[in-house]
Amino acid sequence: MRIHLTLYRDGAPRRIDVDLPPAREAGLGLTEWEGASVSTALQVLQRTLDPRIGYVLSCRRGLCKVCAMRIDGEVQTACTVPLHDGITIEPAKERLALLDTVVELSLVRKARAPAAPH
Ligand code: FES
Repeated sequence: MRIHLTLYRDGAPRRIDVDLPPAREAGLGLTEWEGASVSTALQVLQRTLDPRIGYVLSCRRGLCKVCAMRIDGEVQTACTVPLHDGITIEPAKERLALLDTVVELSLVRKARAPAAPH
């Protein structure tokens, strides 16, 4: 399974194409990648490709939204989106990227916060 990945480091995007190792060899008890989440792939890549790959995970159920990233052009939660061959993974907003797929969420939360009562 091939992933098109954009990692944001040192102020610039780095686009790479990565082939995941066979699912049976990933140490996750999977027999195939279909149905596994994007965040699972990032965890495997952190172990097998680059231990510095940056991503954020918390609830792993699509509730907290901290794992939001742009997947196939749409901002979605990495823990709930299933992999497919040729998937594209990028930071949710390049201008807010801190490291790889991690973005500055405090600015997003501030923009979405309800106005203070007067
Ligand atoms: S880790 Fe909470 S929504 Fe993905």
